[in-house]
Formats: sequence, structure tokens, C-alpha cells
Amino acid sequence: MKQIIAANWKMHKTAVETTEYCRAIRQMEADFEGVEVLICPPFTALSAAAIALEASSIKLGAQNMHWESQGARTGEVSANMLLEFGVEYVIIGHSERRHLMGEDDSQVRRKLEAALDNGLKPVLCVGETEAEREQGITKKVIEKQLSGALEDQDPHKLSGLVLAYEPVWAIGTGKAASVEDAQEAAVLIRSYLKDKLGAKLAESTRILYGGSVKAENIGSFTVLPSVHGALVGGASLEVESFSSLIQAARKAVIT
Ligand code: PGA
Repeated sequence: MKQIIAANWKMHKTAVETTEYCRAIRQMEADFEGVEVLICPPFTALSAAAIALEASSIKLGAQNMHWESQGARTGEVSANMLLEFGVEYVIIGHSERRHLMGEDDSQVRRKLEAALDNGLKPVLCVGETEAEREQGITKKVIEKQLSGALEDQDPHKLSGLVLAYEPVWAIGTGKAASVEDAQEAAVLIRSYLKDKLGAKLAESTRILYGGSVKAENIGSFTVLPSVHGALVGGASLEVESFSSLIQAARKAVIT
């Protein structure tokens, strides 16, 4: 399975900065062979990214979307608006949206369904907070998030689905999860998929790790048998650090 290395820029970069970044990174794309590289800029920079990445193998993703296709939803953006820029992936249920914007499981589910209905590939994020881990309820939390979004879905519709395990305490803290914790969560997610949605989907779904990933540690995650890439925040903001991270991921898989 081809691994995905996804850049989640969050609320960083103007359209001008995006153009500059994308022009620079596409000069290096010959070195990205074997890896699916994905950039998720803010909505306002999607157009600039789409133009700068035209005819490149680097894919475009969005960080969020609304489930309605149009209407009175001030400040929201729909799937068809994203498709206009050639967006292929969309991050759904990132912990910053769950915890800072109050997004709940039923909203996450509606977004996931709308993404799939419109042919977008959702990158569904799950993960526990530090307090939840300390209480020993990590497994319960992840299973609840998975059920909230995926229970009773038609497995045939989920073929483009990507999962991302992102422990909240590891995001932006410089304190990545241990390799054992990442592997354990990925195995848990895969067995949930197998039990609820069937072996075929469980085998074909890519599970990413996210949370303080950098060039120095990515290889230890991407060599794991259950992990197929990473969702990267801080270390994706500079072309050089993102590109060396991609190289490190490739090297780890090849060797
Ligand atoms: P980080 O963010 O790499 O800065 O920890 C990851 C994410 O939130 O997707």
C-alpha cells in the first residue's frame, strides 16, 4: 500500500506564501516516488495551491468541509466548492475541530458521508486526550469516535477512506507517541474496521500516525506494519523540513 505523507497547514500561509511553497516543493517531486504527498492548505489558499501544483503528482486536500452542498451556513464551505479546485482529500474530525470548535461525532459523521457522496477521500482523525489516556480509556475513546463516524456505513462506499490516529497530547507538543502506542492504536483501528465493516476494507484502509512527526522520527512510524504514512502539522510548514521528512519516510520503507 502506498503511504501518504500529508501536510496539514492549519491556519498558516497566505495565498502568496502558498504559491511560493508549492512552486518550490514541486521541484523536488521526482524524489517523492512511491509516496503519495498531500498538501492541505487553508481554504483561502486552495486556488493558489491548485494553480501552482497543476499537473504535479502532489495532491491537494482541505482541512474541513460542511455536509450541506449550499445554503445559509455563514462561514462554511461545501464539498462541491472544494472539488472546483481539484481537491481530492479532506481532513474530517481533526482534534482541533473536535476540541476547540466543539465538533461532535454526529457532525463528523455527516461530514464524512457528504465527503464520500461527493467523491472526496476523507482523512478521518481519531485520538485521545492526555486526561483520557491517564484514565486508561484510550481504547474506549477511539472506538467511540470510530463508531460515531463509521457504524452501519456501507463498506463499499468507504473504499477511499483514510484513518489518522492523532493522540491529542502529541499534537504540536514535540512529544510524539511511542512507536508501541502508535502500533497499538493502528491495530485497534484495523480490528474495529474488520469487525464492523469487513476484512476487505480493513486490509485496504490506510492508517496514518499524526502528532509531532518530524524527519527524525517518521521512519519509526512508517516502518510499522499497520501504519501507512503520517499527518504532519508543524514540520510541513517549511519546504526543506517537509521534503526531508518525505525522504526519511521513503528510506524507512525501502530499507
Ligand atoms: P503536529 O500536528 O505535527 O504539529 O503535531 C499534527 C496535526 O495536528 O495533524
